[in-house]
Amino acid sequence: MINTHVDYENVSQEHTIQDAMQQGELLRMAMRGEMNSENKSAFGQFFTPAPVAQLMASMFTCQEPVIRILDAGAGLGTLFTAAVTGFCQRETPPEHILVTAYEIDDSLIEHIHRAMHHCEHICATHGIKFTGTIKHEDFIESGVALLSQANTLFSPLDDEEAAGFHCAILNPPYKKLQSDWLEKQRLQEIGIEASNLYVGFLALAMKLLAPLGELVAITPRSFCNGPYFKKFRRDFLHTMALQRLHMFESRTHTFKADEVLQENIIVYATKSQERAEQVIITTSSDIEDDLFSTYTVNYQQVIHPNDPHSFIHIVQDSDGAQVVAAISQFHTTLADLHITVSTGRVVDFRAADYLRMEPEAATVPLLYPLHLQHGVVRWPSPGSKKPNAIVDTYQTQSLLVPNEHYVLVKRFSSKEEKKRIVAVLYEPDQFPQPRVGFENHLNYFHQEGQGLDPILARGLVAYLNSSLVDAYFRQFNGHTQVNATDLRSITYPTRSQLEALGGQIKLQALSQAELDELIKKELLPMAESEEGPTHQLTQGK
Ligand SMILES: C[S@@+](CC[C@H](N)C(=O)[O-])C[C@H]1O[C@@H](n2cnc3c(N)ncnc32)[C@H](O)[C@@H]1O
Repeated sequence: MINTHVDYENVSQEHTIQDAMQQGELLRMAMRGEMNSENKSAFGQFFTPAPVAQLMASMFTCQEPVIRILDAGAGLGTLFTAAVTGFCQRETPPEHILVTAYEIDDSLIEHIHRAMHHCEHICATHGIKFTGTIKHEDFIESGVALLSQANTLFSPLDDEEAAGFHCAILNPPYKKLQSDWLEKQRLQEIGIEASNLYVGFLALAMKLLAPLGELVAITPRSFCNGPYFKKFRRDFLHTMALQRLHMFESRTHTFKADEVLQENIIVYATKSQERAEQVIITTSSDIEDDLFSTYTVNYQQVIHPNDPHSFIHIVQDSDGAQVVAAISQFHTTLADLHITVSTGRVVDFRAADYLRMEPEAATVPLLYPLHLQHGVVRWPSPGSKKPNAIVDTYQTQSLLVPNEHYVLVKRFSSKEEKKRIVAVLYEPDQFPQPRVGFENHLNYFHQEGQGLDPILARGLVAYLNSSLVDAYFRQFNGHTQVNATDLRSITYPTRSQLEALGGQIKLQALSQAELDELIKKELLPMAESEEGPTHQLTQGK
């Protein structure tokens, strides 16, 4: 057992700022693997490495003489320590820093005391008054109660909470919320729709900020486009002015040792309804990387003004800007094309009685993602773990579609696949059966439940499989899941452009490079001349 006890009496007077961060970092590393795994998963505990905490803290610009800081889900106190030490190092430091740290887990409270102790000491050496408050409470419960009380006439709030925080620094817990969970219901009481705990934390924190208050948070990237995050995204973008996004190029590195496989981003925003004209996008290869690229893009390129889903697009560099410029030449939506994209109707455990491992009399093909191989439909797949067929009977009619042309896209791309969108043409000639079933892990493009025109479908497959669409898709989708909403949000070439494309190609015969060249020649004669916004490499934070 690693000793994580800190002897407060002997915290030496000469502790410097670096000591404070280093001690926290040593503790974080020592605690890895030693932590109670039940708490780790119940409370979504992944602690922020010190360099990331310092990067986050460096984003605050607050110049108030008295600064109130919120750290919700404080863990070991790394984030508020980074914020406090950051403010201490200012040329004109504040006169008074107040920190309110919420933490639910008993076992972490002593570490937060330690961190508060460090902060107090460091502030004292800089002539700054420090007030630390540890709230050993459930932030959701307390935050909701605070905000409900704040709306009543007689507000019993603490002074700092009543006035609002100037800065909130968060690495919130990540946990999916089921609809009957108390956290979800509590948040709904004050109008917050949260499909994940981290979004609940962000929504509460932004509500607890003072006007022009600053929020910096490291979170999974899923809120940028996930369909379940739409309401939050809208509220967030309405209440907060997005200023900066920071990406880590390496997908898993930031919390690698903690086995966090989500793609993480740092988001920095101020509480104001006045939109920033530009958003700064910084990218570093990993947490130790002091050199990162800075790219400034127009706000409208990050959040498209007419996007009903308010997706957040992360345009990282000039290549990314060219992609945006190229895609913005297409204005046709799927609705304009009278095409719909849906998830496959067959949910296998619900239709279990009708599924057959191998085709037999009175069955029709049932397609799973495994049947899409090397750009074509390969069916049946004998000996596969998934059924190959579904009984064609009146009970299954609502699950089947006519055997016509469709475009199929896997909902989850596999790790081996280089591209996120894998589109395949389903051609009816392969199958004598009158109908076909698409399993729920496939998206399929159709026209009111019927097939598509074959040439149009072919053009659509070519467009969806282009590197251009893949690069555009990655700007707003940070995971391997391809939702029907994502596919609906892309703009497409016109019907005649798609048909011209579809008329020209034999899909299987084309390499990726040949396909991209054809797309460029047919659809993008102007793309090369577009200029991107400013791009530079920056040393330090
Ligand atoms: C992802 S960790 C981050 C910890 C710390 N902020 C950091 O960056 O290292 C989330 C923290 O939130 C705490 N937590 C989880 N649910 C909470 C709740 N409902 N109220 C307060 N804290 C909570 C966890 O115990 C954990 O310490």
